Amino acid sequence: MQDKGISREKVIKTLRDYKNRDLTYQSGRILGSMCTCPHPVALEAYAMFLESNLGDPGLFPGTKDLEDEVITILGDMLGKSDVHGHIITGGTEANIMAMRAARNLSDVKDGEIIVPKSAHFSFKKAAEMLCLNLKEAELDENYRIDLNSVENLISDKTVAVVGIAGTTELGKIDPIAGLSEICLDNDIYLHVDAAFGGFSIPFLQDAGYNLPEFDFKIPGVSSMTIDPHKMGLAPIPTGGILFRHREYLESMSIETPYLTEDRQSTIVGTRTGASTAATWALLKHLGRRGYRKIATRCMDLTHYLAESLEKADFILVTEPELNIVAFRSSQLTLEEISRGMMDKGWLPSISAHPPAIRIIIMPHIRKNHLETFLADLKSIN
Ligand SMILES: Cc1ncc(COP(=O)(O)O)c(C=O)c1O
Repeated sequence: MQDKGISREKVIKTLRDYKNRDLTYQSGRILGSMCTCPHPVALEAYAMFLESNLGDPGLFPGTKDLEDEVITILGDMLGKSDVHGHIITGGTEANIMAMRAARNLSDVKDGEIIVPKSAHFSFKKAAEMLCLNLKEAELDENYRIDLNSVENLISDKTVAVVGIAGTTELGKIDPIAGLSEICLDNDIYLHVDAAFGGFSIPFLQDAGYNLPEFDFKIPGVSSMTIDPHKMGLAPIPTGGILFRHREYLESMSIETPYLTEDRQSTIVGTRTGASTAATWALLKHLGRRGYRKIATRCMDLTHYLAESLEKADFILVTEPELNIVAFRSSQLTLEEISRGMMDKGWLPSISAHPPAIRIIIMPHIRKNHLETFLADLKSIN
């Protein structure tokens, strides 16, 4: 570090130079991310609460009340308003917390968790950190968890089963009702990772989309991940973890001797209240109608892209269920498409299971972005 500080103007100018090298959501060039442009109301709320620390909630009782209200509203959106949880950094932390609760609630040593092969890699981190063994269940022909495979993997070491509502690679919704029956029959904790789908499935159902039940309305669901910083339009970092019963959250609480609360269940200690304020602002400002409009617009563009790709002789890997389109070409390998599109300024995301180019139609995507993308794609095919 240099001894003498540099002027504010120089600092900001240099930062701007760095920032100018980043891609922006507004440019439409970010097609493979589950994050998006935060809503302006969320940014205003976020800035208001920058100094608030929910790791020491007695100092910030106003922010704590906001968090309680946000958790109740999210629970209500997901079928049960009396849930217990926190606004945290994102889906990874939420999934680790859920697996930690499941492990702590069981008295099994060297426990196992069963996740679908389509699960986000955060479960691998969770398994490693919590000394759990990860068992991967097979998928069916529609890339959803295969219930027979889950039943075959269950053993007296199983501490949790995980279903996904909006898989990372294809946006598929696992049969949560089927998982619930299996888990209730075997007295096993069921976690639903709705990091991606949590902020769209309820609103698409309102709009008449025929999507399956996936939330706390299903009796066996013990906890859910829902990420406001994905389809919720909140700034990063904003994740949500919800538990059906208070004891699940408390099963991982640790004594906090010098703080204004006696015990803490979250993984991080100091925890921004700004994410909570931003989420509260969005839930109030957009309401169900606002979120419905956003989710249906993304789906309309998803169908437009899927149909245009088929017309141009690309092969859809599967019918989109949520706002993700995965495709291949019969002429070019995925690497050739990727290289060709990179030369034209795109950074396509390649999914591994199944191999495909994966486009996520987030709220920042406009039709003209997709038209340009399609024109460039056709020119290299
Ligand atoms: C289904 C799912 N769960 C969890 C995560 C992890 O979320 P984060 O990157 O916010 O930690 C993702 C990320 O894309 C995801 O798609």
